[in-house]
Amino acid sequence: MRHPLVMGNWKLNGSIHMVHELIAALRKEVSGVAGCDVAIAPPAVYLCQARHEIGGSRIALGAQDTGVNLSGAFTGETSAEMLKNVDVKYVIIGHSERRTYHKESDEFIAQKFGVLKELGLTPVLCIGETEAENEAGKTQEVCARQIDAVLNAHGAAAFKDAVIAYEPIWAIGTGKSATPAQAQAVHKFIRDHIAKKDAAIAEQVIIQYGGSVNDKNAAELFGQPDIDGALVGGASLKADAFAVIVKAAAEAKAKK
Ligand code: 13P
Repeated sequence: MRHPLVMGNWKLNGSIHMVHELIAALRKEVSGVAGCDVAIAPPAVYLCQARHEIGGSRIALGAQDTGVNLSGAFTGETSAEMLKNVDVKYVIIGHSERRTYHKESDEFIAQKFGVLKELGLTPVLCIGETEAENEAGKTQEVCARQIDAVLNAHGAAAFKDAVIAYEPIWAIGTGKSATPAQAQAVHKFIRDHIAKKDAAIAEQVIIQYGGSVNDKNAAELFGQPDIDGALVGGASLKADAFAVIVKAAAEAKAKK
């Protein structure tokens, strides 16, 4: 049985004060919730502080991206080895904001996936279609292409203990979430696509939904059989809303 993962992607938000306040509030809100994994991904510059502040709690540390090189003359980069060194467990890769603003290709993202797996870190591979692709009926084609880049480079076994986040780009930060039925259909497609290579790997892979998840719509999304938690943007910056989402995932898991 899969264990849902609710992860907060803080994106480019935070300060020393905010990291302190938000984690203190989160620790109180989610300490008693069982049956769901919880993680936060603050900006890289605050990872050490966050590591200290979540110490001894059930909140795991995530990062928002990684470089592909482990060390050397790569000014401005953060390596997966450094992330591991500060106890990061989950690393988001291929977020649409990086695909769009930093022109990251499917192959480059697959390379990051391989680096993370080699170091024992958990990739959170973001995939998803634009609004135009959605309207053109290309959702499955786009998701398959983004998954295939990893399958072709590393094989289906690379998805053991990995996380996929289906984040339709038209739903990110828009307040317009996919409906539970829409998301479920794509999640099932993704799982079936991997199952064509390896059914056991497909069955255990965590597939999160992301895109305008909030305290109101989370429970219904998590009620779907192939939705295993969420990657949360805006609502992860508010401890009370994030806690409601975590609790909804735990309750949905108990019913599955
Ligand atoms: P929002 O929850 O703000 O729509 O962001 C989703 C997201 O991009 C998480 O990675």
